[in-house]
Amino acid sequence: MTIRFDGQVAIVTGAGGGLGREHALALAARGAKVVVNDLGAARDGSGGSATAAEAVAVVAEIEAAGGEAMANAASVTDAAAVEAMVAEVMARWGRIDILVNNAGILRDKSFAKMELADFQLVMDVHLMGAVHCTKAVWEIMRTQNYGRIVMTTSSSGLFGNFGQANYGAAKMALVGLMQTLAIEGAKNDIRVNALAPTAHTRMTEDLQGLPLEALGPELVTPGLIYLVSRDAPTRAILAAGAGGFERAYVTLTQGDFAIGPDASEQVAARFDAISDRKNEIVPDMGAAQGMIELTKAQQHHSS
Ligand SMILES: NC(=O)c1ccc[n+]([C@@H]2O[C@H](COP(=O)([O-])OP(=O)(O)OC[C@H]3O[C@@H](n4cnc5c(N)ncnc54)[C@H](O)[C@@H]3O)[C@@H](O)[C@H]2O)c1
Repeated sequence: MTIRFDGQVAIVTGAGGGLGREHALALAARGAKVVVNDLGAARDGSGGSATAAEAVAVVAEIEAAGGEAMANAASVTDAAAVEAMVAEVMARWGRIDILVNNAGILRDKSFAKMELADFQLVMDVHLMGAVHCTKAVWEIMRTQNYGRIVMTTSSSGLFGNFGQANYGAAKMALVGLMQTLAIEGAKNDIRVNALAPTAHTRMTEDLQGLPLEALGPELVTPGLIYLVSRDAPTRAILAAGAGGFERAYVTLTQGDFAIGPDASEQVAARFDAISDRKNEIVPDMGAAQGMIELTKAQQHHSS
């Protein structure tokens, strides 16, 4: 069945260009009223304009296609400006169904050369930006008993990438945020997922060796659309690029047991068994780890 968002309101941060723009256009084309947020920053997060011309242009594009949208120039790093954006949306449209945390910047350098300020700013935009926006809509979604939130993560966070210690840390932090918010949001039908895109945008224009023409950002958006739909999953990490879609998981092996004065040496000797991925699980929540460990301890003590 065609996925539609008629009567729904969506906020997409960083939607003046790149992936966010594609997400905003697709949401509007499928019936959502869309808040096109963008500060109009340079790729390294510098600058920003009160008018955020790119966001205004995306709104014009949506309206020209018969859709409804509003531009917003709040920096996601500014909690008060984000709250004001949400208040404005509520005053105009009365509800918020979808939040796509997409705004992002890069400050790439090897960790040896990275200034703490570059680390802090990247954490502020990606992690705290998503926290500010999510916090501002959370109570609204709880009251509505409906919400769909996507965190934009990255393969750099999930798997690492040279020169991106700050970005990778922030992107994996968003997965941690998603894991707990999905648990806390479940009783109010708030579903929270993470999207790990690969796309040719301003952010990736310097990447060598990638066939950038095959990596249009519009090829990622179908994954986003599913993650914010009525029938969305929750707690999924969906990877997407060039028309390919994959899932990433945080898993736990069954492991082994080591206790006693030489437990450290046992861990060393059995590291292969501890690492064995046969029967590994995707825990429903953090407590699963303790349960697996206690079960092994009980088995040991009763044998
Ligand atoms: N392009 C990729 O391959 C790729 C891979 C992994 C993750 N991502 C993530 O996808 C998201 C979108 O990136 P993109 O590739 O479209 O890059 P992009 O630079 O085209 O888009 C990012 C947008 O965020 C806006 N922005 C930056 N700081 C902001 C702030 N403080 N408040 C509001 N808006 C702000 C920018 O002005 C820009 O329009 C980012 O979170 C990025 O980290 C992209």
